[in-house]
Amino acid sequence: MCGIFAYLNYNVARERRYILEVLFNGLRRLEYRGYDSAGIAIDADLRPPVTNEKKSDYGSGEEEMLPPYDSLPPLVFRQEGKIESLVRSVYFEVDAMDLNLEQSFPVHAGIAHTRWATHGVPSPRNSHPQSSDAWNEFLVVHNGIITNYEVLKETLVRHGFTFESETDTEVIPKLAKFVFDKAREEGEQTVTFSQVVTEVMRQLEGAFALIFKSAHYPNELIACTRGSTLILGVKELIDDKIRGKLFHDVKDLTKDEKPKELFFSSDLCAIVEHTKKYLAIEDNEVVHIKDGCVSILKFDYGKEKPASVQRALSVLEMEVEQIKKGNYDHFMQKEIHEQPHSLTTTMRGRLKDNSVVLGGLKEHLKTIRHSRRIIFIGCGTSYNAALAARPLFEELSGIPVTMELASDLQDRQGPIYREDTAVFVSQSGETADTLLALEYALANGALCVGVTNTVGSTLARKTHCGIHINAGCEIGVASTKAYTSQIVAMAMMALAIGADRISTQARRQAIVDDLSNLPYKISEVLKLDGEMRDLAESLIDTQSLLVFGRGYNYATALEGALKVKEVALMHSEGMLAGEMKHGPLALVDETLPIIVIATRDGCFSKQQSVIQQLHARKGRLIVMCSEGDASSVRPVESCKVIEVPQVADCLQPVINIIPLQLLAYHLTVQRGYDVDQPRNLAKSVTTQ
Ligand code: AGP
Repeated sequence: MCGIFAYLNYNVARERRYILEVLFNGLRRLEYRGYDSAGIAIDADLRPPVTNEKKSDYGSGEEEMLPPYDSLPPLVFRQEGKIESLVRSVYFEVDAMDLNLEQSFPVHAGIAHTRWATHGVPSPRNSHPQSSDAWNEFLVVHNGIITNYEVLKETLVRHGFTFESETDTEVIPKLAKFVFDKAREEGEQTVTFSQVVTEVMRQLEGAFALIFKSAHYPNELIACTRGSTLILGVKELIDDKIRGKLFHDVKDLTKDEKPKELFFSSDLCAIVEHTKKYLAIEDNEVVHIKDGCVSILKFDYGKEKPASVQRALSVLEMEVEQIKKGNYDHFMQKEIHEQPHSLTTTMRGRLKDNSVVLGGLKEHLKTIRHSRRIIFIGCGTSYNAALAARPLFEELSGIPVTMELASDLQDRQGPIYREDTAVFVSQSGETADTLLALEYALANGALCVGVTNTVGSTLARKTHCGIHINAGCEIGVASTKAYTSQIVAMAMMALAIGADRISTQARRQAIVDDLSNLPYKISEVLKLDGEMRDLAESLIDTQSLLVFGRGYNYATALEGALKVKEVALMHSEGMLAGEMKHGPLALVDETLPIIVIATRDGCFSKQQSVIQQLHARKGRLIVMCSEGDASSVRPVESCKVIEVPQVADCLQPVINIIPLQLLAYHLTVQRGYDVDQPRNLAKSVTTQ
């Protein structure tokens, strides 16, 4: 789970300082994906090409001093820590090297990377770009994992390569050099950059998105992907309405000299401030930028030569404001408070005439209704969201619904059949565990449905059909608005599946009504912000926190505890209240704070009894209840009660999680931890 970014300006002069800032800014946008080290590669000062005549002189001892290509070696800067530490070190080094920041490049290709360490500790040596050799003949930034890197490394070592890092990535640039050198040795003087990369790709196993820069191919970039999201962004720099046609298609980019800026990025967040025209690069595509033109080759194991493909550019529906903090102190805070809006966009255009219309599922509803089982598959918060939606699915569809943590399904190789509908829930759409489970379900013939927030993500591309939750870019590592949008998207899915049942019509109508009112109710519950800040203050020194929920709100308990754990770095457990007496009750004493979720639903009286049992054991209780219920749930006057607006039982988890998100946020701020980039975590987990 790393962020990769590249910037290429063509036929438009850009100073070195500008190029650096574009690269740094790209990394800042991607920093939430990993933030333990970072790096960039840019060009050095230009120098006159070395002539053949001079080259022959190299034999007299100079070859040690000169690179095996006609320019100065690209400059690579790598640093441990967050992006700002890279920025400081680059400007420091640039100054020390006396490098001219105002030097202008009519064409320039720069690459950048922000890392979440998997192979090797965070250090400059393990940071990307990883290099083929001391001359940086081939440089690579990588997101994902190369599963056969050990075998490749052994082979390369046998051919004389020496390795510097502990990363799986280092085999890639070295393999590129090996392929390039071999082609040259065999007399192929005209081997192209894409031939080299295609051959490298043929050797790689795993999931990856890669960007290559090479001193042998100055001003060119190549990006390719397999199982990892990668975006190409295209920015036109002249008014083409006057001069000719606009770029709508990659084909328009294959043969023109027009000034343009091109970007590669792990996600759309890093390109939205430059352009809205983009292409989600598909699996096994090799995108080559050369002389300002873009060409796409589709790699196929079965065929010697990759085929050239044409793709249309898409228009991004995202505003720059989405990726900025605005007046908030942290992204997590902004995203919590954005929920009335994000839920509105999740539902926009989908609630029509008292029913639900989901374009992405329309053609598949019949198949889903006929499936023998629905399986929800996800990780972390996404799993919790599916768990919250499960009871409504069971109720409205009448189909058995099972839950799977994606990694556990993989570990067990649990049975999945053709008659199953497997619903994959993932905010990022690129979580490795979830994607591997998807591969598995596809191989077993199940109908695979995606629920994701990321347009163009691998999940969106590989599932048969699905729903975009449209929550907008979520940058805080702790998922908040995506969680509530996932629940609402799945509630709408359950309504759509159950739409053919007369018996549930009144129930469905009541839910649709409450869905429409949900953004307003969320605005109401957000008013608890101050109260949650005070509660956080009273809990600041505690070591642990338990959250008990059941029914629709078992998921709320798990998710609330996950939020506290994840950002406030405090031990916290969400538990099924029905299990309390089977073990957890032993933990109860006067010091351990316990939140009990007891809003009005079919489980209310059982939760009242849980409160009484905890009170009898002198538990330190905090009770969440529906507005007006404080007196019926509070065992003693001193017990802290959180009153929340009441909505349809199946939508109550959307309301109930908000105070817990606020509590986690304030606990984190008060305990002095990093809210948006919690220790050891990153947003999308692209490793197993
Ligand atoms: C949520 O706060 C976490 N960051 C984490 O549990 C996350 O939900 C999980 O890694 C799955 O990510 P996904 O939704 O992008 O697949």
